[in-house]
Amino acid sequence: MPVHVIVGSQWGDEGKGKIVDHLSENVDIVARYQGGANAGHTVVIGQQEYILHLIPSGIFNENVICVIGNGVVVDPAALLEEIEMLRSFGLDIKKRLLISHNAHLIMPYHKLLDRLREEQNSRIGTTGRGIGPAYIDKFSRTGIRIVDLLDREVLCKKIKTNLEEKNKVLKQIYGEEELQVDDIIEQYQEFDKLIDEFVTDTSFYLNNALKENKTMLAEGAQGALLDIDHGTYPYVTSSNPTSGGACTGLGIPPTAITKITGIVKAYTTRVGNGPFPTELFGEESDLLRRWGNEFGATTGRPRRCGWFDAMLVRYSARVNGIQEMAITKLDVLSDLSEIPVCTGYRLNGKILKTFPTDEKRLDKLEPMYETLPGWKQTLTEITQYSDLPERAIQYITRLEELTGIPARIISVGARRDQTVFKDV
Ligand code: IMP
Repeated sequence: MPVHVIVGSQWGDEGKGKIVDHLSENVDIVARYQGGANAGHTVVIGQQEYILHLIPSGIFNENVICVIGNGVVVDPAALLEEIEMLRSFGLDIKKRLLISHNAHLIMPYHKLLDRLREEQNSRIGTTGRGIGPAYIDKFSRTGIRIVDLLDREVLCKKIKTNLEEKNKVLKQIYGEEELQVDDIIEQYQEFDKLIDEFVTDTSFYLNNALKENKTMLAEGAQGALLDIDHGTYPYVTSSNPTSGGACTGLGIPPTAITKITGIVKAYTTRVGNGPFPTELFGEESDLLRRWGNEFGATTGRPRRCGWFDAMLVRYSARVNGIQEMAITKLDVLSDLSEIPVCTGYRLNGKILKTFPTDEKRLDKLEPMYETLPGWKQTLTEITQYSDLPERAIQYITRLEELTGIPARIISVGARRDQTVFKDV
């Protein structure tokens, strides 16, 4: 059975939601494999915009089963809000949403600690959704999983043990009030009742589906440069958005993966702190932000904007095994008469062969640019690749040459129908 992995190739916000929604028309299952409610996947259908944080973007296609895998950290409050939002639009998700019993839960102390750590030493610029602290507990083997909700005794014991430690940290380091065990237990038992119908062994489900030759999209959140192992550490998220994360985050074998598509924004953006070699400042940055509506879908923070960085995408292609690109937001560049593209980096006068991931070198890089002519023409109503202006095709072709990845999909607007497929 073919598993098609969709990854963010830059620093997230490449428009994965839209592409996953579009591609899910032709698959049986869409499964999210990492991250949590830090993600904001935007899907626009007709005039309606939907923002998803946890539920896979395939949910709008009624024949698709959506899976939240074991690699995701689930905030029950955010999940219930999202389920409610979908129901309010008349979407029937009964029997269409499955949540892994092994997924870890975001607890109130995770969100609190995330916020306090950022306030005291705001280095990363996290989304404040408790992601880092939840993954810390997962890896220190003290995390609470969805399966623990089933047994009140186990849940109470685990919450108590966690709170003993967390309350000391909250009180002694941050001077905060201690959290009450009973309140949390009550709250999470209530969540259990509400999400129980969706919880199952999703790895078992997915592997059975593999045997039945069902087709599946594995949906990553964030992007490769935010990957805990391969990103611009420490300015990263705490999971593996890269394609390898799809196997561990869903419990499926690497041999099931048949295709990897990298979602690539036609320029570059980043939210939060950290190195960004092609970042623009002042008017140029403001323009891109305005044209591209570059504000975080989860936090509303203005995104930092810059030119397309081919060195970064080549690196992303390497660590993900990207076989084809979906280039998004090409329409945003339509008013520019010239478009610079970063072809590589110089450091201390030498051209670098690979993307450096250490902060010190990344801060000192000199990006090398070439400038391509703009097309100065609206793209938003174009539906055929051959109808794109010649200079837009020239831009796409150059990105293909510089990154070594063929483009397959071009997005020319936020709506589902504003998508152009290039024949390969
Ligand atoms: P965290 O994932 O909330 O811990 O945040 C760590 C870093 O990842 C911060 O720079 C965030 O802005 C960034 N980040 C997390 N999720 C997203 C996302 O969905 N899109 C873009 N950046 C994100």
